[in-house]
Amino acid sequence: MVTTERSEQQLSLTMTEEHEMLQQAVRDLAQKEIAPIAERYDASGEFPLETVRKMGAMGLMGIEVPEAYGGAGMDSLAYVLTMVEVSKADASHGTIVSVNNSLFCHGILKYGTEEQKQKFLVPVASGEKIGAYSLTEPMSGSDAGTMESRAVLNDAGTHYIINGRKSWVTSGPVADYVLLFTMTEPEKKHKGITAFLIDAHQPGFIRGKVEPKLGIRASATSELVFENYACPVENVLGEVGHGFKIAMAVLDAGRIGIAAQALGIAEAAYEASVQYARERQAFGQAIGQFQMIQQKIADMKTRIEASRQLIYNACLAKERSKITGERYTLQASMAKLFASETAMFVTHQAVQIHGGMGYSKELPVERYFRDAKITEIYEGTSEIQRMVIARNELGLR
Ligand code: CAA
Repeated sequence: MVTTERSEQQLSLTMTEEHEMLQQAVRDLAQKEIAPIAERYDASGEFPLETVRKMGAMGLMGIEVPEAYGGAGMDSLAYVLTMVEVSKADASHGTIVSVNNSLFCHGILKYGTEEQKQKFLVPVASGEKIGAYSLTEPMSGSDAGTMESRAVLNDAGTHYIINGRKSWVTSGPVADYVLLFTMTEPEKKHKGITAFLIDAHQPGFIRGKVEPKLGIRASATSELVFENYACPVENVLGEVGHGFKIAMAVLDAGRIGIAAQALGIAEAAYEASVQYARERQAFGQAIGQFQMIQQKIADMKTRIEASRQLIYNACLAKERSKITGERYTLQASMAKLFASETAMFVTHQAVQIHGGMGYSKELPVERYFRDAKITEIYEGTSEIQRMVIARNELGLR
C-alpha cells in the first residue's frame, strides 16, 4: 500500500482511502483496547504484552517493512498516522511501536543482508518478537561517538566478543533482538563503531537495572550488560566501522516517529482541554468564554497544526530519500524539535486549564504532561536537534 507518487519530480504526500482506513482501524484499537488500560499500566509500570501482540497482528510493528519480510508494506505517512493514534491513547504504547518500527526494523531493512532480514527482520516486523536499539551508555548520551563498550574479534575470526554496559534501552527488559552499537576500533573514535544484531537469548547477554521513570512508564527501559557475549561475524550489520553512520541514519527515521508520538500526546491533551473549557463553569459561565482560556486554546491548536505540517514535510523527505538516497536529517530534526516542544507546551496548558483536576490522577491529563517530557529528551535532546539544524544551515560539522 505504498501510495506516495514514485517519481522524484511529482512526489507528493496524499492521504488516500487506504490511509484513512488504516487511521480508523488504529483509532478503534487504540481507543477501545489501549486507552482503557493506560492508567493501570502507567501505575504498575508493567509491559503491556497483550496489546503489543494485538498491534503486531494488525501489522503495526513493521508498518514500512515489505510484506515479503513480515511487515505491512505501507509508507511513512501510514507510520505517522499510526503513531499519532496509538500515542493519543497511550504514549507508552507509542514508544514501543516507534522503537520496533524505526529503530530496529528500519535499520535492518536498509543495511541488512538477505540472511539477516530473514533471521531478525521477519519475526520482529510481524510482531512475533520484540526489537530494541542500543546506542547510549552511562557516560555516552548526546555525545554518541564516545563509548566504552568493546567488541573484539576472536583469534579464529568467527565471533566478536562483546563486553560493556549500555543504558536507557527502550524495550530492553523484554527485547528478543537488539541492534547494538559498540566500539571495534576505539582509536578511530566514531569511525571505529560497528553495528551488531544481537540475539538476547544467548549467554553473556544480561538485562540490567530497570529505570524507574517519570513518564511512558509502561514502556520498559533498562540497562543491558554484555559479559563475553559471542556475536557471530555474520551478525555485523553493514560494514565494520560504519556503525555511527548507521546509528545516525536510523535515528533520522526514529525522530519522525517521536515527533508523531508528541503530536498524538498533544492532540489528546488538547481535545480534553476543549471539552473541559466547554463544560466547566466558573463565575457563572463556561470557562471557555474567558479570553485567557481562549488564548491558550488558540495557541495550542496553532502549534499542533504547525507540528503536523513539519511531520508531513519530514515524511515527504523520507519518501524522496527512498528514491534518491538523500538524507532527511534536517526535516526529521525540525519535526521532532517543534512537535516535542509543542507537546510540552500543550500538556502544560492542559493541566492549567483543568486546574486542580489537571493535577489529579483521576484524569489522564497529568499523565499526558509526564509522558510529553521524554519527547524533548530521547532520540536526541532539543539541544541536539537545534545543533543538527543549525550546523546544516551554516554548512558546519
Ligand atoms: N546520517 C548519516 N550519517 C550521518 C548522520 C546522519 N543523520 N549524521 C552524522 N553522520 C555522519 C557524518 O556525515 C560524519 O561522517 P564522516 O565522518 O564520514 O564525515 C559522521 O557521521 C560524524 O558526524 P558528526 O561529526 O556530525 O558527529 P558528532 O560527533 O559531532 O555528533 C550528533 C553529531 C548530532 C551530536 C550526534 O552524536 C547525535 O545525534 N547525538 C544524539 C544521539 C541520540 O539521539 N541518542 C539517542 C539514542 S536512542 C534513544 O533515545 C533510546 C531509545 O531506545 C529510544
